[in-house]
Amino acid sequence: PRVLILNGPNLNRLGQREPDVYGRVTLAEIERMCRAHGATHGIEIDTLQSNHEGALIDAIHGAAETADGILLNAGAYTHTSVALHDAIASVPLPVIEVHLSNVHAREAFRHHSCIAPAVLGQIAGFGAASYLLALDALRLHWESQSA
Ligand code: DQA
Repeated sequence: PRVLILNGPNLNRLGQREPDVYGRVTLAEIERMCRAHGATHGIEIDTLQSNHEGALIDAIHGAAETADGILLNAGAYTHTSVALHDAIASVPLPVIEVHLSNVHAREAFRHHSCIAPAVLGQIAGFGAASYLLALDALRLHWESQSA
């Protein structure tokens, strides 16, 4: 199976960006950890980061042809984008919403997710490990579907 790991705005700044909130690990390191973890389960990983809402929407549409699931950290678009909600709803893939930080322990404007109603589930608050947990969640989901 193949998974698209899709990261939204400002996540290219991981490592330098608000390290007290997001840690020191870079996005390239997170992607490498996911590739290594995926490989132990025969999962191939595609990665894309964009600061542009439309590019994220195009990537979700494209994944319908190329991937078996998506891990999506939509960054701040999580809290604003009906268009991303609709893009997720438009594809038949399982999508897991990922956040490094525990968005519910932060500012009130981060408590609402526009995309939550369209995703399979959410993982938040475990730093870089959120992505690995989400990859495991996707794998267990596939297993439960094929059992
Ligand atoms: C984030 C949380 C969002 O509220 C924020 O806008 C981000 C990162 C996270 O991974 O914790 O850019 O999605």
